Amino acid sequence: MPTEDHPHVTPPPILHATGIEKTYRMGGKDLRVLKGVDCEVRPGELLAILGRSGSGKSTLLHLLGGLDRPDGGTVTYGGEDVYRRRGRSLDRYRNHSVGFVFQFYHLLPELTALENVTVAAMLQRGVAGWLGAKKQIIERAAGLLDQMGLADRMKHRPAKLSGGERQRVAIARALINRPQVLLADEPTGNLDQETGTSILELFDELHAGGQTTVMVTHDPKVADAADRVVTLVGGRLAESAAQPA
Ligand SMILES: Nc1ncnc2c1ncn2[C@@H]1O[C@H](COP(=O)(O)OP(=O)(O)OP(=O)(O)O)[C@@H](O)[C@H]1O
Ligand SMILES: [Mg+2]
Repeated sequence: MPTEDHPHVTPPPILHATGIEKTYRMGGKDLRVLKGVDCEVRPGELLAILGRSGSGKSTLLHLLGGLDRPDGGTVTYGGEDVYRRRGRSLDRYRNHSVGFVFQFYHLLPELTALENVTVAAMLQRGVAGWLGAKKQIIERAAGLLDQMGLADRMKHRPAKLSGGERQRVAIARALINRPQVLLADEPTGNLDQETGTSILELFDELHAGGQTTVMVTHDPKVADAADRVVTLVGGRLAESAAQPA
């Protein structure tokens, strides 16, 4: 917090996880994946979360995004406990406060690229709100797809798109409701190197435009673009040393 003595102290985090615990129960066995994770996301930063496959990165990102429930600990957004929200308030957090780019795209196969992006805005508004704002939303969705280099792919269904194109649609979808925080789970994980690089450039541009972003990856090279890197090891997060050049 800024004080008279320290007027330039960093602003408080937008998103703050404290003591997050998560255990999966499978076949009578407990798998303790997160054992007290503390994580701050500061306004405007690109935070990379590194960790080996199976270390719990997706689990953590889902918990930050309000998509699952922790067994212990809290996630606060703008100072409010996300998991005290219920029903529509929690939906609003998931659809509006944060935007999620999933590890495996999760596009709806029967919808076109444009419809996949607009549907997220539709869910956010309900029928009446959607009808009122339809034209504006379609324009914004088309604008985002254009920004993603997909101007001539808007009518394509996901099956007719390449992996990189699908990921771009997923990013546009995550941005349609102007989320404060973009949460991206291995956004380059399933792409060849060149396509992955172009997706990273997109995240760089968004970051330069002030978009707060949390990106999960197992690739230390991907983390080079980040302002800050933390590593998930043994169920806890450790602040990583400065990036090698
Ligand atoms: N719904 C679930 N039920 C049971 N176990 C799960 C579930 N989801 C994840 N796990 C297990 O929890 C551990 C962490 O999974 P998670 O998907 O968070 O890892 P990750 O770090 O994202 O891995 P990757 O880099 O491969 O995506 C893994 O051992 C996984 O098998
Ligand atoms: Mg994962």
